Amino acid sequence: VHVFVEAMRRAFMDRNEYLGDPAFVQMPLDRLLSRDYAAKLRGEIKPDSATPTPPFAARVQEGQHTTHYSVVDAQGNAVSVTTTLNSSFGSGVTVPGAGFLLNNEMDDFASAPGKPNQYGLVQGAANAIQPGKRMLSAMAPTIVDDPQGRLFMVVGSPGGPTIITSVAEVILNVIDFHMSLADAVAVNRIHEQALPDVVYYERGGLLPATVRQLEAMGYTLDQRRGYQGDVAAIERRGDSWVGVADPRRGGGAAGY
Ligand code: DON
Repeated sequence: VHVFVEAMRRAFMDRNEYLGDPAFVQMPLDRLLSRDYAAKLRGEIKPDSATPTPPFAARVQEGQHTTHYSVVDAQGNAVSVTTTLNSSFGSGVTVPGAGFLLNNEMDDFASAPGKPNQYGLVQGAANAIQPGKRMLSAMAPTIVDDPQGRLFMVVGSPGGPTIITSVAEVILNVIDFHMSLADAVAVNRIHEQALPDVVYYERGGLLPATVRQLEAMGYTLDQRRGYQGDVAAIERRGDSWVGVADPRRGGGAAGY
């Protein structure tokens, strides 16, 4: 019973997530039907205990729907765009007849002094709600000029407050640490936003010795389960351009 139940559970987890009308849905059938995949699933069955089904949301990660793109044209004109609904599906309200969702950007205001918003940001009266006032945004679509005033970099990211730190880190990595743009985007990121007073770091992003040293200095550190940011960046290299999409997610870079 145990082994068969675990097999049925796994079959249904895939059915629930991947299967639908083939006229609408591209299903990963080659993978699902392969012997390698069957062996992998079989290997995950514990001989003497049940594996609880993870909550559905944990398997299907709905993005937060903030997107950044960076563009340079042949004349060197640049566009850096970050656009957002704020959190998943925004306010959950669609515009009848128009077919798009309204955002829930009100959460970027400080709704009450000392009360954290969905990103844990604790802000004061300067960002309190008032009629006609715009909420603070962490979105940082950025264009960097070189000292001669020529376009040097176009960069931005989604990620709530981590947008600010992710964009800063990529620029520092290129200008101060002389990394290639690919390395500057790929390398692990860290984040601190004053409150909660925690230094977040990506998995493997800090050496254990560094973590211990920082703890000894009085920092609280927290290794993220996921990743930080999704940078799309362009850098001038002589007369041409290098474009890099963050390996953390599914973006791309194209030149034509
Ligand atoms: O403007 C802001 O700071 C937030 N509304 C951005 C939200 C965001 O980046 C969500 N995405 N991952």
